[in-house]
Amino acid sequence: MNLKHAHNIDDLRRIAQRRLPRIAYDFLAGGAEDNVTLRENRAAFERIRFVPRTLVDVSRRSRKVALWGRTFDAPFGIAPTGASGLYCFDADVALGRAAAAAGVPYVLSTASFVPMERVAQEAGGTQWFQLYMSKDLETAERLVTRALKAGFDALVLTTDIPVAGNREQNRRNRFEIPLRLGPGNMVDGLLHPRWLAGVFLRTLASSGVPRFQNLDINTGGRITSPTLTEFRQRRTELNWTDFAWLRKLWPKKLLVKGILTAEDAQLAAQHGADGIFVSNHGGRQLDGAPSPIEVLPGIASAVGSRLKIMVDSGFRRGSDIVKALALGADMVFVGRATLFGATAGGEAGALHALNLLKGEVDRVMALLGVNGVGELGPQHLRFDPDLRGASLAERGIRDEDGGIRETA
Ligand SMILES: Cc1cc2nc3c(=O)[nH]c(=O)nc-3n(C[C@H](O)[C@H](O)[C@H](O)COP(=O)(O)O)c2cc1C
Repeated sequence: MNLKHAHNIDDLRRIAQRRLPRIAYDFLAGGAEDNVTLRENRAAFERIRFVPRTLVDVSRRSRKVALWGRTFDAPFGIAPTGASGLYCFDADVALGRAAAAAGVPYVLSTASFVPMERVAQEAGGTQWFQLYMSKDLETAERLVTRALKAGFDALVLTTDIPVAGNREQNRRNRFEIPLRLGPGNMVDGLLHPRWLAGVFLRTLASSGVPRFQNLDINTGGRITSPTLTEFRQRRTELNWTDFAWLRKLWPKKLLVKGILTAEDAQLAAQHGADGIFVSNHGGRQLDGAPSPIEVLPGIASAVGSRLKIMVDSGFRRGSDIVKALALGADMVFVGRATLFGATAGGEAGALHALNLLKGEVDRVMALLGVNGVGELGPQHLRFDPDLRGASLAERGIRDEDGGIRETA
């Protein structure tokens, strides 16, 4: 199957699964522990039904959205994904270019394999920088200063990773960055020659062993690129005081990624954030965490007037995106969807993923009888009593006739 025959994100996922050796596919697709949250991220969407209106003129509908003075061609963007360079050559640039071509924002991960300055220069479009920071504020300041100089429009601080999630498949596969292929993985690599030659060896030839290119750490006076394990150190000490420090340092838009409660959303607002990402990190951190779509209505009613609300985790269909917008999100972000695309066809594959989602959003809006993203609201959704997730009902967000009301 090639891109032409990929009619949805799951088709792209299947191509990716075939192209990649296990060590790379598992890191991409897997979640934490028993994958309860990973599955719930999808299941939560299936419990929500649409309320379509008919005989509405939808010939002039638009899926454009305005955010902080910019207009985007679709109400979604690309979430930050570290180690993307495992999936296609120069993936961080390819994803950025695909986002620019689609007219949507791109969030570059701290853990990219291409230096942020090169992505900023070569990708174009609207780019935000995702920051992983630890209590080592000197390193954080260096990164933030570089991001500002490189011209990134917004900074996204990821906060749901005080320790690494328990992703047992990665331990089983001996996954580590810099990526090395040991005897076991080498055989698998050889069985995937297209990936071996086109991604791994090509990266090796152009910039060395695939590794983090934005990070440097001071080990005994020597500045080096850290391993994944080193890179995660001292994150446990991070707290809201550090966020306040960051707020003073970064003059542009600042977002907190990894919010799952109204309380934390309110703290983000109190500490001067401009926006949040309601996210469970794609089910890769705390297994048992709720799906963002489930907690979104409560968070939107608590801070929707003060903060811009981004949401990610589990989005694979335009209909998922429309549901989140109807529940109070300003924009949706996708992680794996565009990485599946990039694996299947580089920049063109990532763009194909974005175009599939655009087409689906557009179709769902027409079928709902909606002309603009701003019209979407709880009146377009209901929870089927037989399919309804208990926690949504428990929080009283379903009214008598099945519509959704904001949480109290
Ligand atoms: C391979 C991979 C790498 C990721 N790396 C990062 C990262 O470096 N920083 C970050 O904030 N989130 C990272 N995430 C989480 C995504 O930003 C996003 O929250 C998640 O992928 C959304 O779920 P989805 O993949 O189901 O769309 C990563 C996700 C994946 C799949």
